[in-house]
Amino acid sequence: MAIKILVIHGPNLALLGEREVAVYGNFTLDEIDQALRSTAKKEGAELEIVQLDSEGEIVEKIGQARKTFQAIVINPGAYTHYSVAIRDAIAAVSIPTVEVHLSNIYAREEFRHKSVIAPVAVGQISGFGVNSYLLGLKAAVDYLKK
Ligand code: DQA
Repeated sequence: MAIKILVIHGPNLALLGEREVAVYGNFTLDEIDQALRSTAKKEGAELEIVQLDSEGEIVEKIGQARKTFQAIVINPGAYTHYSVAIRDAIAAVSIPTVEVHLSNIYAREEFRHKSVIAPVAVGQISGFGVNSYLLGLKAAVDYLKK
């Protein structure tokens, strides 16, 4: 049976391609999703990919993931830096979770240097643009195969 992985894009990521191009690049969310799907195929994983702007919806999605998914790859966007609710949801479901960021959050404003998600994640990949997602997906698959 294929490994099932949930990919969550957090707030404002639907605007990729137009939003702060100098920081995030000019690729769109659709292009990231296409790259994820082709990597997933090679890795033998099945993906569900969602983009959710609201914290409550992200919490709900993580809570429902328990029965269906073996791993989560999440870019929590700005929630990274303060959402105890998302952190608690990840801790509650105990699904191995990889945190990813397009930009290197440690090379940016100080308020981005702290992730409240990182302590409950298996690991974090930050700063490689689209590749952060692909590396995150591969890391999740390898983690599950171990
Ligand atoms: C981001 C980094 C966050 O600080 C920011 O709020 C985002 C995107 C990234 O992918 O680099 O929305 O998660």
